[in-house]
Amino acid sequence: MAAGSLMARSPLHILLYVLATLAVTAAAEAPTQKAPLPAYNVTADEEYWAKRAEEARAYSRAAYVSDPVAELNRFNRDVHRATARRSLARRYGGRPCVATNPIDRCWRCRADWASNRQRLATCARGFGHNAAGGAGGRTYVVTDLSDDELIVPKKGTLRFGVIQDRPLWIVFGRSMVIRLSQELIVNSNKTIDGRGAQVHITGAQMTLQGVRHVIIHNVHIHHSVPHSGGMIRDSKHHYGRRTRSDGDGVSILSSSSVWIDHVSMSSCADGLIDVVSGSTAITVSNSHFTKHDHVMLFGASNTEEQDRMMQVTVAFNHFGKGLVQRMPRCRFGFFQVVNNDYTHWQMYAIGGNRDPTIISQGNRFIAPDDGNAKEVTKREYAPYTEYKDWVWKSQGDVMVNGAFFNESGGQNERRYGNMDFIPAKHGRYVGQLTRFAGVLDCGIGKPC
Ligand SMILES: *[C@@H]1O[C@H](CO)[C@@H](O)[C@H](O)[C@H]1NC(C)=O
Ligand SMILES: *[C@@H]1O[C@H](CO)[C@@H](O)[C@H](O)[C@H]1NC(C)=O
Ligand SMILES: *[C@@H]1O[C@H](CO)[C@@H](O)[C@H](O)[C@H]1NC(C)=O
Repeated sequence: MAAGSLMARSPLHILLYVLATLAVTAAAEAPTQKAPLPAYNVTADEEYWAKRAEEARAYSRAAYVSDPVAELNRFNRDVHRATARRSLARRYGGRPCVATNPIDRCWRCRADWASNRQRLATCARGFGHNAAGGAGGRTYVVTDLSDDELIVPKKGTLRFGVIQDRPLWIVFGRSMVIRLSQELIVNSNKTIDGRGAQVHITGAQMTLQGVRHVIIHNVHIHHSVPHSGGMIRDSKHHYGRRTRSDGDGVSILSSSSVWIDHVSMSSCADGLIDVVSGSTAITVSNSHFTKHDHVMLFGASNTEEQDRMMQVTVAFNHFGKGLVQRMPRCRFGFFQVVNNDYTHWQMYAIGGNRDPTIISQGNRFIAPDDGNAKEVTKREYAPYTEYKDWVWKSQGDVMVNGAFFNESGGQNERRYGNMDFIPAKHGRYVGQLTRFAGVLDCGIGKPC
């Protein structure tokens, strides 16, 4: 990592100064990057992905928690604590701090967030709370918005950062629009941290496949479209032929410990966030979703029984204008959907099939005017005799404009009896809790 883009942590202004100097050097050295590539070997490539999937399964099993209700309760307790008047006064004195939920309280009130960016890795809550991202690694500054080289990505680009093998905390030297030319394959132990800039990632999907410990924070992700595939590098020592990518926003396959926070997502060709193939330990929080049909798919196949270990928290998000359905649509796993603001849907908000457990707590559901779309829930392709035993519960949700949540549970409900739950912060506080959903405009040296 000789030139330009990797360096130890230091105050951002010094960093940027040094960087500006080094970027010139890097540009001058560019021609030396064209090293000869090893011959491509299809068999070796298949073996490589099979091995990655196998390793990932072991990590998913380790990240899965056997008592998901305890995790739910921990989440709800944290929200109560962070929003208690007394704790506000004690911890923040007279200093103005408008962070309204425990994730934001962990970092947004601190004027030094930019010189201690890795603190963010301690702020996740819910099933993805262990997501370390690039914590412990060096800082990598994206200075080059181009995406022309897929096998030997250029230093300074986002693609060069995400394919590295070691932990990296990836930040952006300035605001930029990155138009991906093919799917962006993100390796383990990476944080993509857009704080301090307005960063747009468009054109193709971000893929997390067989990885763990990824944090995606404070970036705009939109207008991802399908691509035919081709040769793409996924890690420092491997590239290979990729088949078609669907044009999701973020596609998470066989991965664990992933946290997506304060992103703004809209208008992608397929799903905004897809979580599939035995992924688990995931939190999607503080994000703003608009202008999209299939918002989130958790479990893509009726036969992928490994998705029973999927555990996902969806919290403090704003499901806004122009959304149609799947917020989320679930199969098999355990899903806590808590303290979100649903202001727009056309068909339904939360749905699924194949016996997912869906605990909806402290959300606000504002139904559309269409009399046929008042129901929050939708069971796909299942008769009553089958779905009556799926545990779908609504607790402390606020229903507006005729919205209703059709609960089920039958004989399985006893496993999650009301007695076991710590109630979530009530849905009437959702406006406050989600007030800052989406990308933030953080100034360096000031609370955000
Ligand atoms: C391709 O990879 C396989 C598996 O690693 C190996 O057995 C084979 O010899 C390789 N073929 C070539 C032409 O390198
Ligand atoms: C990735 O992060 C996890 C959690 O901090 C850590 O245990 C693991 O060693 C890291 N991986 C690498 C390659 O550093
Ligand atoms: C709600 O679910 C019950 C079974 O749990 C079903 O009998 C009923 O038709 C559903 N109501 C609506 C309005 O979908």
